[in-house]
Amino acid sequence: MTTVLDVQRFKDEGRHFAMLTAYDFLSARILDEAGIPILLVGDSLGMVMLGHPTTLPVTMDDMMVHAKAVSRGARQALLVGDMPFMSYQVSTEQAVANAGRLIQEAGMHAVKLEGGGGVVEVTRKLTEVGIPVMGHLGLTPQFVHQMGGFKVQGKTDAQAAKILADARALEQAGAFSLVLEGVPSKLAAEITQALRIPTIGIGAGPATDGQVLVFHDMLGLTTGKAPKFVKRYANLAEEIARAATAYAEDVRTGKFPGPEHEYSTNGSTPAKDREEARYGG
Ligand code: KIV
Repeated sequence: MTTVLDVQRFKDEGRHFAMLTAYDFLSARILDEAGIPILLVGDSLGMVMLGHPTTLPVTMDDMMVHAKAVSRGARQALLVGDMPFMSYQVSTEQAVANAGRLIQEAGMHAVKLEGGGGVVEVTRKLTEVGIPVMGHLGLTPQFVHQMGGFKVQGKTDAQAAKILADARALEQAGAFSLVLEGVPSKLAAEITQALRIPTIGIGAGPATDGQVLVFHDMLGLTTGKAPKFVKRYANLAEEIARAATAYAEDVRTGKFPGPEHEYSTNGSTPAKDREEARYGG
């Protein structure tokens, strides 16, 4: 099983690694069996699974349902659960209790928090009680209203200096890794160089130690123009639409179901009976 120590070793040995989001049992199993070392149950599920315009409406209850499903599907990957908006900002006590639920009840191995100075104390406390923390700086979607939209961060010298200082503070507080989202490649390279812990980039260029993409973006399930940082490795939206249309056409023309999909009342054999019983036939 991949652990936080392995993730540190990846950086120490100069091995770039991939993280992907996962939100359900079957996709977690597929990604895990494909050897993806880190699966993130991201609060992006609010947008790609639940249809919200931002991640802000995502609740602990939402996270728990999806995190539990992912932990049932994965065997090898390090599982990281996102702390949703307002699950860690109100008090350190509440943050510890909510992070504890993701670990204890949902089977996550670590949690991820967004933000810099404001989450340093929580990061220290969680680390102290044995909950590994992945930080998240740059374009932090839970700050969408403060950022005035989903905008690249760290473009000015002052912003870049602040992100670098926050990154150092999170490392000091015990974070085991750091997501850098939507920042210029030069800044991501500088932070990656400055930190001992691994950085994981999304829209942060090639210099980070790891990369992360959202499952639905990577597979082409999200449609329309993809953000610049997304690479689509498949076009599943088109493939699903093609399959659904073919199925509907087969039903309309009587091609489906065919004789091979039918159960019979006579001529049964013990082997056939066993197979039919498996499917409730
Ligand atoms: O919620 C999420 O999926 C994330 C990744 C994009 C890093 O935070």
